[in-house]
Amino acid sequence: MNTAASRYDRIARETFIPQIGKIVEVADMTAKDRFFRVVLENPLGHRPGQFVMVSVLGLGEAPISISNGPTGDNILEMVIRRIGRLTRAIHELNVGDELGIRGPYGSGFSLDDFYDRDVLFVAGGLGLVPLRSLIVPVIAERGRFGDITLISGCRNPAEELYRDQLERWTTDAGMDVIRLVDSTENMPWKFGTGLVTEPIPKMTMDAEKIVVALCGPPVMYKFVIKTLMLRGVKDTQIFVDLERRMKCGVGKCGHCQINNIYCCQDGPVFRFSDLSAIPEALQ
Ligand SMILES: Cc1cc2nc3c(=O)[nH]c(=O)nc-3n(C[C@H](O)[C@H](O)[C@H](O)COP(=O)(O)OP(=O)(O)OC[C@H]3O[C@@H](n4cnc5c(N)ncnc54)[C@H](O)[C@@H]3O)c2cc1C
Ligand code: FES
Repeated sequence: MNTAASRYDRIARETFIPQIGKIVEVADMTAKDRFFRVVLENPLGHRPGQFVMVSVLGLGEAPISISNGPTGDNILEMVIRRIGRLTRAIHELNVGDELGIRGPYGSGFSLDDFYDRDVLFVAGGLGLVPLRSLIVPVIAERGRFGDITLISGCRNPAEELYRDQLERWTTDAGMDVIRLVDSTENMPWKFGTGLVTEPIPKMTMDAEKIVVALCGPPVMYKFVIKTLMLRGVKDTQIFVDLERRMKCGVGKCGHCQINNIYCCQDGPVFRFSDLSAIPEALQ
């Protein structure tokens, strides 16, 4: 029987039934952020900046950014912050345990927008996680980009993510890495203090040639974008990753809607010029 009902049933199953992912590595990154490497049944096939819906049976589902670069294999890497019911339950899982994974979903970044340009990454806190999925392929094809700079900020030294990676990117990747904390809170720290906006006015910058990718808390976007525009960077050259509350991840429930856009489908990555008529997007 091939009725419309059975066709819809198949689409619903393909859209909403997760594949099983087996956890193969777990590591603490900070007191509240844990890294998970998961092997999936099928290749992930993602673009940088996309996300997956991660579920624990009987508890629920949450959108989580993919942190590995696109490789075409069955590996999914994530960093999950313990914040509520579901993320607490995920933190209790160990190697060998299983998670439900739907996706990848969302627009993501296109490398075509970055080739032959100077690239500035600006990450605030957990924003380094989705941004890493773009930084990795950019570094892999280093010769196809101009100057590359990463400004990475977080609250205090204990909250910095991917410390080893930041060291390696500083020494081996041909990238200028600026590491900042809001305050050292009396912890040892050999890098800078201040907000991620502060290095921008002092940077050597070709405003025509640069492309910027921003990931972090929404409050950061307004100030970073304003500072970039004062340097002559146009809204067409800025990409932002907008995270909103999500339920379905596939444009059905309306939870992530801002005016006429669905962050889960149209985003979470947007060219800033596409948001110019939607001031609520940065609130
Ligand atoms: C596209 C996207 C990508 C994301 N990527 C990651 C990621 O890589 N790593 C990660 O740790 N988290 C990420 N998040 C956030 C993550 O989805 C939430 O932290 C998670 O849903 C919380 O579920 P919970 O059941 O543990 O918390 P809940 O019990 O649902 O909530 C606990 C508290 O956190 C607040 N909260 C819940 N969700 C959010 C949210 N999205 N924004 C702000 N406050 C929230 C609630 O209001 C409540 O106060 C992402 C969200 C989106 C939309
Ligand atoms: S999360 Fe359901 S429409 Fe976007």
